[in-house]
Amino acid sequence: MKNDLFLRACRREHTDTTPVWFMRQAGRYMPEYRALRTKYTLLDLCKNPELAVQVTLQPLRLGVDAAILFADILLPLEPMGAPFEFAQGEGPVIHAPIVDRAGIDALRVIEPEDGLGFVLAAIRLLKKELPVPLIGFAGAPFTLASYLIEGGKSANFLKTKRLMLSDPESWHALLGKLAEVVRRYLRAQIAAGVDAVQLFDSWVGQLSPDQYRTYVLPHTRHVLQDLEQVPVIHFGTGTHSLLEAMRDAGGSVIGLDWRTPLPDGWKRVGYDRAVQGNLDPAVLFAPRDVAEREVDRVLAQAGDRPGHIFNLGHGILPETPVETVQAVVERVHAHRKVR
Ligand code: CP3
Repeated sequence: MKNDLFLRACRREHTDTTPVWFMRQAGRYMPEYRALRTKYTLLDLCKNPELAVQVTLQPLRLGVDAAILFADILLPLEPMGAPFEFAQGEGPVIHAPIVDRAGIDALRVIEPEDGLGFVLAAIRLLKKELPVPLIGFAGAPFTLASYLIEGGKSANFLKTKRLMLSDPESWHALLGKLAEVVRRYLRAQIAAGVDAVQLFDSWVGQLSPDQYRTYVLPHTRHVLQDLEQVPVIHFGTGTHSLLEAMRDAGGSVIGLDWRTPLPDGWKRVGYDRAVQGNLDPAVLFAPRDVAEREVDRVLAQAGDRPGHIFNLGHGILPETPVETVQAVVERVHAHRKVR
């Protein structure tokens, strides 16, 4: 691996420049991705290791300092017994959402080699040719449970919260199963060769700190406990009031979305952790000079303290202009850190 800037920043070592990559950096905003999608479905791309490798490599032309494996957080649900599809314009649709305890009891706690072997195969192929570190990932128990229960995207997560609050025993049974699968899956990705992992708890910002500590933290901790071999990025959105609790659940790098000012977030997370973020994905739709000014602001807020990984506060949006993404990478790399 020629460029280990990202890994050094995760370990809070001094780097001359700040590493940058983007959540969802392989996707529809890139013309070469859209071209492949005319021939293959999203699940085709995920399940064919050669194609997954090809898509993972696409955004590297932008000069990012890390690659993220092309896959999806929902992939484990199918071998667990909850098949789904990505419906045009609607996002994920779970065919038979969980409605009762029987549905939870029927879920299988799988071994990653059974049912997710294609992901591990893609990692082994990627490790042969990558010039930058490879990030593996999984969905966190809460966010996966929300898809299983809601059956797809949700505005208020009412079904999820209803189960959580009215039948805590079933809730913990469900999150316990998901946590065990995700724990094994991340360890299998590390054994296959990923250099870092990210846990996506995208929708956990729906909860209060008390709810998080009672209903989620023990399960996320089970996933992340003793995962010291590689840097672990713990990410969520809308997490302003949850940062301390998420840090307590685990992760050597904590994600900060754009609603939390970076200096405030880092202070609360603690300087013994690295942080990742926190540009608003919408900034990439502004004129180039505005986007560059926002990049400068994030970098100034991070200061020259070691341990900041530049990223958006959430995934890159499908209509994002590629030229602005490129300009942001260049702007981040133009900034020199002082020791
Ligand atoms: O470079 C990368 O980061 C790509 C790999 C990746 C995908 N999904 C591929 C994908 C990653 C890291 C994910 C994570 C993911 N998937 C999350 C967590 C990140 C976040 O944004 O919060 C979530 C919540 C999902 C579930 C999911 N997958 C949704 C809600 C959708 C539909 C939304 C949409 O944009 O249409 C997907 C589909 C999906 N997964 C796409 C990609 C590139 C959309 C592109 C397509 O249809 O081809």
